[in-house]
Amino acid sequence: MAGATAPGSTGGTAQPDATALSRGGIHLVKHPLVEHHVTRMRRKTTRPSEFRDLVRRLAALMAYEATQDLPTKPYRVETPLCETEGVQVRGRVGLVPILRAGLGMVDPVLDLLPMAEVWHLGLYRDEATAQPVSYYDKLPAKRPVDVAMVLDPMLATGGSVTAALMTLREWGVTNVKVLSLIAAREGIDAVATQFPEVQIYVCQIDPELNAHKFIVPGLGDAGDRIFNTIEPHE
Ligand code: PRP
Repeated sequence: MAGATAPGSTGGTAQPDATALSRGGIHLVKHPLVEHHVTRMRRKTTRPSEFRDLVRRLAALMAYEATQDLPTKPYRVETPLCETEGVQVRGRVGLVPILRAGLGMVDPVLDLLPMAEVWHLGLYRDEATAQPVSYYDKLPAKRPVDVAMVLDPMLATGGSVTAALMTLREWGVTNVKVLSLIAAREGIDAVATQFPEVQIYVCQIDPELNAHKFIVPGLGDAGDRIFNTIEPHE
């Protein structure tokens, strides 16, 4: 797949911020299928059932990119004909969905990594302050996973991902990847500045946040669109 590290157009949205890109931790997953599915996801008439399918497809495409450097070890396997050398993923991989919207990305990534552990983090953004509020965290005190993959379709101010990354740092995880379908330029820049060691994978980077800290053009609220909880008046 034509995954790209940083350079390239974002398909009609803003060019990634040059400052953020120079830090090298941002990977723009650029591919015709990714752009096609993101466009369908942005469309306000896309119903929740299709929206969920699109999140799943994009999460799988991103996970393929984000797992390219997973460590492996040799593994001998017996075929029906003879023994041969193969490989096995080495170490523990943890998927860390940020509730709620990150849940929509878990199953497709688990399909690729059936041996992964899933560690949920409950965070919601306070509507008045746009600050993340933690409401669920059951990470154990010890034995951090070797690789953590934070799953959240949206990265707006970056506050939620930052809170998740601080939690993972406290747990002791040293290899962390963030998978977000859409990010705002200022949010991704803020996360990359604070966590230059973290690899951030995004499908598209949008140019701005509005007064309510929503990504523009964005796609609205991914959690509401996945779980069909949009208030009738919205
Ligand atoms: C959305 C989204 C991210 C967060 C992004 O979740 O899924 O978690 O906001 O914003 P930020 O980068 O400014 O922190 P939301 O708070 O709406 O919760 P939900 O998933 O339960 O809808």
